[in-house]
Amino acid sequence: MSDYDSGIDLIEADLDGFVLTIRLNRPDKLNAVTQEMSAALVDLITRANDDPAVRAIVYTGSGRAFSAGSDIRTLDQYATPWEFRNRRDYCDALRAARKPIVAAINGYALGGGLETALTCDIRIAATTATFAAPEIKLGWIGGGGMSALLTASIGAGNAALMLMTGDPIDAQRALRWGLVSEVVEPDALLGRAHEIAAVIAARPPIAAETAKANLRAAQNLPQDQAIAYERELQGITFATEDAAEGRAAFAEKRVPVFRGR
Ligand code: COA
Repeated sequence: MSDYDSGIDLIEADLDGFVLTIRLNRPDKLNAVTQEMSAALVDLITRANDDPAVRAIVYTGSGRAFSAGSDIRTLDQYATPWEFRNRRDYCDALRAARKPIVAAINGYALGGGLETALTCDIRIAATTATFAAPEIKLGWIGGGGMSALLTASIGAGNAALMLMTGDPIDAQRALRWGLVSEVVEPDALLGRAHEIAAVIAARPPIAAETAKANLRAAQNLPQDQAIAYERELQGITFATEDAAEGRAAFAEKRVPVFRGR
């Protein structure tokens, strides 16, 4: 395990065997995200995107929260609404990630915390996790993809229930609605998330990043275009050295060694 300096104490980052763990570390404020933390996350994800030593990411929080969203107390610091609109944003940071991300949701995932969880590719929750879009209780709405991502994840009616009431749902309901893939005991959460991330990290990295790009296309493009895009990316992955290694290893009945080329 090596320290992967995030440049800020409120965010811990560790690299272990191609898996980068990012942990929000502001437990006394339920991992509410400040501007400084947002900027650090933008830089961290940019660095991870460019780093071949990172093949998968686990994103989690310390203490009893995954994240309670934006730090409400710092939201008045912007000089103008335009400045607020153009802020460096942690949801955008995660959305810019090319590497697969597993969210390990340990507790409250509220507002931007829920949006970041939805922006991750795979969500595993502890029994202690709760999920809400509480912005409406404060007089505004989420702006990090809440409506689009919730609707895609749990359907328009369930999304409306969450968005219009702002009330929380527990981990079991999140599981029933497909918001998370698995619910585990709190002490098993990180282990399970790392298990999944390690499997992804063992796959050829270009193919894993391509899988992520195709999933994004599947959600955003008309189906014919998404299928055409998938075919193009299949052609690109098929031409990689790793794909040749995969075919050779299969023929030679040995374990493939993937190098991300
Ligand atoms: N922004 C800033 N600070 C926050 C925060 C947020 N989003 N969420 C929690 N905190 C702070 C609290 O102010 C408190 O700080 P304090 O000890 O200095 O008063 C600390 O975190 C612990 O939270 P607290 O409210 O005492 O815990 P609780 O268990 O009683 O309640 C919540 C938990 C999640 C119900 C409550 O903190 C809450 O409603 N938070 C706001 C969530 C939200 O609306 N998020 C969307 C933001 S856009």
